[in-house]
Amino acid sequence: MLEPIKVVVTGAAGQIAYSLLYQIGKGDVFGQDQPIIMHLLDIPAMMGVLEGVVMEMMDCALPLVRGIVPTADPAVGFGDVEAAFLVGAMPRKEGMERKDLLAANVKIFKVQGQALDKYAKKTVKVLVVGNPANTNALICAKYAPSIPKENFTAMTRLDQNRAQAQIAARLGVGIESVRNVLIWGNHSSTQYPDARHALVKKGAEEVKVTDALPDTAWLQDQFVTTVQKRGAAVIAARKMSSAMSAAKAAGDHMRDWWLGTSDGSFVSMGVISDGSYNAPSDVVFSFPVSIKNKQWTIVQGLAIDDFSRGKIEQTGQELVEERQEALAVCED
Ligand code: NAI
Repeated sequence: MLEPIKVVVTGAAGQIAYSLLYQIGKGDVFGQDQPIIMHLLDIPAMMGVLEGVVMEMMDCALPLVRGIVPTADPAVGFGDVEAAFLVGAMPRKEGMERKDLLAANVKIFKVQGQALDKYAKKTVKVLVVGNPANTNALICAKYAPSIPKENFTAMTRLDQNRAQAQIAARLGVGIESVRNVLIWGNHSSTQYPDARHALVKKGAEEVKVTDALPDTAWLQDQFVTTVQKRGAAVIAARKMSSAMSAAKAAGDHMRDWWLGTSDGSFVSMGVISDGSYNAPSDVVFSFPVSIKNKQWTIVQGLAIDDFSRGKIEQTGQELVEERQEALAVCED
């Protein structure tokens, strides 16, 4: 058994956290040999609800959970944490555009960046889930200058999981038969879900999805828009934003970051851009990454055709605009 690590989940009284905490506590994220002290951060008004969450966490009787610390104080919540799930934010409501959310949420991530800088371990791995996730991650990193920028990532794994599920369903195969489906850019309706580099198992062989599914029209149109609009479709049906699937994706993202990806497999993560694939630099852009020793590397050398180039440019442009708006809000 390893020494316990401290892990914080913000928005701990909210609906994503309600599924996420259980996954973390039962060892799905950091491994079955990694005990955890769970820090649960929310705002003062939610402390009553959080008490109920703590009771339920206790009642789950999870052997890996060595402590539960509910708090509204960022100094306590972020104190010495090695991993942070920044979920807490105002969720998108039906009919609300991402831009409306930006002004409300970006300030939260400025304050939390400052708190991470002051109280967390310098090696902390930060996953931003709260929307607009990419730009929130950028702002959070900016206000935590003593922590490497590489330690701040944004979640596009839910989009990747959605895309992978669409491809598997279309091909009539199990989800585990499909890999390397990608999401480029922003976690928004401009994201570019891309199956051009994806592989599917067919018997003993692995073939390109584009060979197994030679339907360019579907791959460029319906597939892309279904994934782009999936979040809105869930809100329309459930009257609340995706929670169970978002929590699963957050666990997947952090697990791969913590434990690594297997050879030849890559996953999508919003990471600080170095301008790879002609994406704009210094925005948090979702790229294909591979991970070893808790360090991600952008996968290089994938062939990009004109269709992909246009989509990457469009989502990159949105991130540049978001960065500008966010910086203006933060400097107010
Ligand atoms: P929710 O409203 O159920 O919970 C949010 C919680 O955050 C509330 O308990 C609230 O009190 C708390 N909170 C607000 N400000 C806080 C602060 N400054 N510090 C700590 N806690 C704070 O929302 P839900 O459904 O759990 O969603 C959370 C966020 O995740 C939203 O921004 C949503 O848009 C985003 N999201 C992102 C996805 C992605 O793929 N990146 C997918 C789905 C949701």
